[in-house]
Amino acid sequence: MTFDISRVRAAYPALRDGYAYLDGAAGTQVPSAVIEAIAETYRSGIGNAGGAFPASGRADAIVSECRRALADLTGASPEGVILGPNMTTLTYRLADTLSRRWGPGDEVVVSRLDHDANVRPWVQAAARQGATVRWAEVDISTAELPVGQFSELVTERTRLVAVTAASNIVGTRPNVAVIAAVAHAAGALCYVDGVHATPHVPVDVRSLGADFYATSSYKWSGPHIGAVVADPALLETLHPDRLAPAPAGVPGRFERGTPAYADLAGVVAAVDHLAGLDASAAGSRRDRVLTSMAAVERYEGELFARLLGGLAGMRHVTLYGKAPRRAPTAFFTVAGYTPREVAERLAAQAVNVWNGDNYAWELAGAFGLRDSGGGVRAGIVHYNDEAEVDRLLAAVAGLTT
Ligand SMILES: Cc1ncc(COP(=O)(O)O)c(C=O)c1O
Repeated sequence: MTFDISRVRAAYPALRDGYAYLDGAAGTQVPSAVIEAIAETYRSGIGNAGGAFPASGRADAIVSECRRALADLTGASPEGVILGPNMTTLTYRLADTLSRRWGPGDEVVVSRLDHDANVRPWVQAAARQGATVRWAEVDISTAELPVGQFSELVTERTRLVAVTAASNIVGTRPNVAVIAAVAHAAGALCYVDGVHATPHVPVDVRSLGADFYATSSYKWSGPHIGAVVADPALLETLHPDRLAPAPAGVPGRFERGTPAYADLAGVVAAVDHLAGLDASAAGSRRDRVLTSMAAVERYEGELFARLLGGLAGMRHVTLYGKAPRRAPTAFFTVAGYTPREVAERLAAQAVNVWNGDNYAWELAGAFGLRDSGGGVRAGIVHYNDEAEVDRLLAAVAGLTT
C-alpha cells in the first residue's frame, strides 16, 4: 500500500488556505485535476448532446465516460447509471416512480439512522399512495441499526426497504447485505443511500445487494452531481414522467433536461483521482479504485481512532455512537456550549466542523438533540492529516467552562 498524504494534499489547492477541513461529510474540496477537467470542457467548446458537430459529440462522450466512471466506482454497469443534480432530487424522482405501484396494504421500511433524503421521499410517497411506513429503530446507546428487527419489519406486503450504507453523523455502517437479503426474500426492493459510505470504503453494489445505490460526487472530491445506479433490467420495468421528445430508453428516461456536461467531466476526473490515491494500485480503473479505497479506509481509520481517542478523554465532551463498523465521522456535544458556539470557536482557530442535525433528522430526534441545536460533526476524509486532528482536539480541549 502506498498512501502518501503529502502527495494527496498537494493535489488540493483549497487546502493551502490553512483551514483544517474537517467538514468533508458536508462536501469535500476538489483536486486540481477535477477543476482542470471542468475548465477544459468549456475551453474546448461544448454543445448540447446529440448534434452533428464535434462540440456536441464531446458532450455525448462525456456522458458515456461519466457513466463508465461511476460504474467503476460502484461495481455497477454503465447502462444502469442515472445522472442528476444530487441524491435528494434523484431519490424523490425514484420514489415518485416506484410508488406508482404501491397501494393501501403495501408497506415501506425506512430507518431512523438515515439522512432525511432517504426517509422523507419514501414517507411522503407512501402517504400519497395510502401505503404504510414501518420504522427500523436505532439502538441509541451504540447508534447501531440492529439487523434482527428487519425480519419482523419486512413482510410479504413490503415493497421497498430504504437504508443507508453509512450514517452521515455517527458513521454507523449497518449490515446492508443482510438487510437487502431479508428484503429480497420477501420480494421487496432495497434502496441504499451510499452518499456517506462512498468516500470512505470500497463499494460493490452487487455484494451489498442494493437494487438502487445513490451517491453524490461532491462528497468524494467531485463537483455537485448525484447518481443512482441500478440494474438496467430493473430500470426497464420503471416509467418515470418524461417529456415527449426526451430519451425513452434506460437510463436516459430517468434524467431530466440538459445535464451539467462540464461537471460530468469533473466527475470522471474525481473517480480517476480516487483510483490513484494508492500510488501502487494497478490494473483496470475498477481494480485501482478498489485498491485505493481500501488504502483510504485504512488511513482514515487510523486518523479516526486518534480523533475519537482524544475526544473520549475529555470530560466536557459527550460522544454519540460507538458502532464497531463505522465511517470516520464523529458527532459530539460540549458542555456549556451550543453546537453552533463550538463550531464558531473552532472556526476562529481555522478548524471547519459542522453543527446541527445535518439532516439526520430522525436520529438527531432519537438522541434528543433536535431542539437543542443538534451536535458538532467532525469528519475525516482522505486529505485530512494528523496535524488537523490534533488542532481540532486542542481547540475542543480549550473549551472548558
Ligand atoms: C448520507 C447522506 N444522504 C443523502 C444526502 C443528500 O445528498 P445530496 O446533497 O446529494 O442531495 C447527504 C448529504 O449530506 C448525505 O450525507
